[in-house]
Amino acid sequence: MSEDGREQSHLTNRQGHPVYDNQNQRTVGERGPATLENYQFLEKISHFDRERIPERVVHARGFLAHGFFEAYGTIGDEPPSRYTRAKLFQEKGKRTPLVVRFSTVIGGRDSPETARDPRGFAVKLKTEDGNWDLVGNNLPVFFIRDAVKFPDVIHSLKPDPVTFRQDPNRIFDFMSMTPESMHMLTWLFSPRGIPQDYRHMDGFGVNTYKMVNAEGEAVLVKYHWKTKQGIKSLTQAQASEIQATELGHASKDLFEAIERGDYPEWELCVQIMEDGEHPELDFDPLDDTKTWPEDVFPLRPVGRMVLDRNVDNFYAETEQVAFGTGVLVDGLDFSDDKMLVGRTFSYSDTQRHRVGPNYLQLPINAPVTTPRTNQRDGQMAYHVDDTGENPHVNYEPSSLGGLAEAPRAGRDHEPEISGPLTRRTLSRTNDYAQAGERYRTMPDDEREDLVFNFVDFLGQCEEHVQERMVGHFKQCDAELGRRVAAGLGLEGSTNGSVAQRGVPARAQ
Ligand code: HEM
Repeated sequence: MSEDGREQSHLTNRQGHPVYDNQNQRTVGERGPATLENYQFLEKISHFDRERIPERVVHARGFLAHGFFEAYGTIGDEPPSRYTRAKLFQEKGKRTPLVVRFSTVIGGRDSPETARDPRGFAVKLKTEDGNWDLVGNNLPVFFIRDAVKFPDVIHSLKPDPVTFRQDPNRIFDFMSMTPESMHMLTWLFSPRGIPQDYRHMDGFGVNTYKMVNAEGEAVLVKYHWKTKQGIKSLTQAQASEIQATELGHASKDLFEAIERGDYPEWELCVQIMEDGEHPELDFDPLDDTKTWPEDVFPLRPVGRMVLDRNVDNFYAETEQVAFGTGVLVDGLDFSDDKMLVGRTFSYSDTQRHRVGPNYLQLPINAPVTTPRTNQRDGQMAYHVDDTGENPHVNYEPSSLGGLAEAPRAGRDHEPEISGPLTRRTLSRTNDYAQAGERYRTMPDDEREDLVFNFVDFLGQCEEHVQERMVGHFKQCDAELGRRVAAGLGLEGSTNGSVAQRGVPARAQ
């Protein structure tokens, strides 16, 4: 009984022993020393010593919410079955439970959510055919187009290994040697680079995937989550003001919106392209530094996502959740995008290290279907996967009644692939066209913001880095190059002043 008369459960240790005294170690006399047979204390403190799992190497700061996906039963105006046999899309009103983890990329687990940084937008849909993870960002393109460059781009963006400070000179040194990053930079240094919070931003799958129908025919697909709250961004000045008093404003905003029943919503749309190389386009459809023009490849709505429940526990859910691009369901497939292949190895690899080999047994990661595998044991194995009829058989094939292969849900998609085994970049690099087009189609205030931010960051860089970046910008758009050069004092021009800031949060 508590002092105010409430019934209280009794404390135990992890072995189930009652804890009679949680205030004092066992010591020789009241002044000590303590003895080593202090099991209750040793267990408590040694568990505490291990309370943190390694943080994610990227996207360490994040926040998770639960919700559902509701299918429209159509893809645009057409039946979903024309493109995909994935069951979650077929029927109007069909709901699939899901979790979403929003994140920043570069900072550590307790870093400010006001950073100029892409925002992660990772969705895990628990379908009747197992999990489907769509691991995306709030920006539609990426810095690089080959997975082998990922550790380098991240090292350049992470703190300097000596000073441990993020350093614009290192960032733009790398970017200026990586022209395919120009398009991404025009997003990241625009207002979109600091979303107001997690509710007011879109999500993008970024990489190109496939949908496969019952005949085994595939189309190329890009995924978009369109926020129904509207897009809102912060200026650098507004972000700094928030950061002065609050490091987790975006998590707080999401948590509080869900608590008050103001459930955020996104519409899932797909862009579809016939499978193939598309030589008529000035970009490769497998190049994740490019967007697909929406007037040619329209956004086709397929359903909506609603987030309506907060986590019960941050560590059990937000920290231990594990998303990966390899996690697809029948009717969805990979494209040949070499970034996507690299990502697919990386996610589960890091999760076996970060969470442990049995991370898929944790409730937040487990599918709603019953896993039936012959994968066994290892650290923290919580249970044995369902073995079917005969628990003695943990191999396949077997005549003794073990698990058998599942029937196919449709014809396999079997694309013809041939070519020399080589190390080459995509031939249609076209690194500047979409970056320049984006600059030219931005409203004036956003262009101003972009130039200001480039000048602000590049102003902290060595002159040769500035010059290389300005050289790239000029090839994107002559005016962009001229304005950044002027802001940096490289050409003595006053065109494109970047002086005044502090405009309010804008919808774009
Ligand atoms: C080759 C390129 C990439 C590699 C090797 C890579 C690798 C990783 C790794 C190792 C993690 C940590 C996962 C964990 O600890 O659970 C991660 C997290 C993440 N990545 Fe990537 N990534 C790549 C590109 C991208 C791209 C292009 C996007 C966006 C479309 C993206 C979105 C995310 C998100 C959202 C998370 C956080 C997932 C979560 O909330 O737990 N990554 N990535």
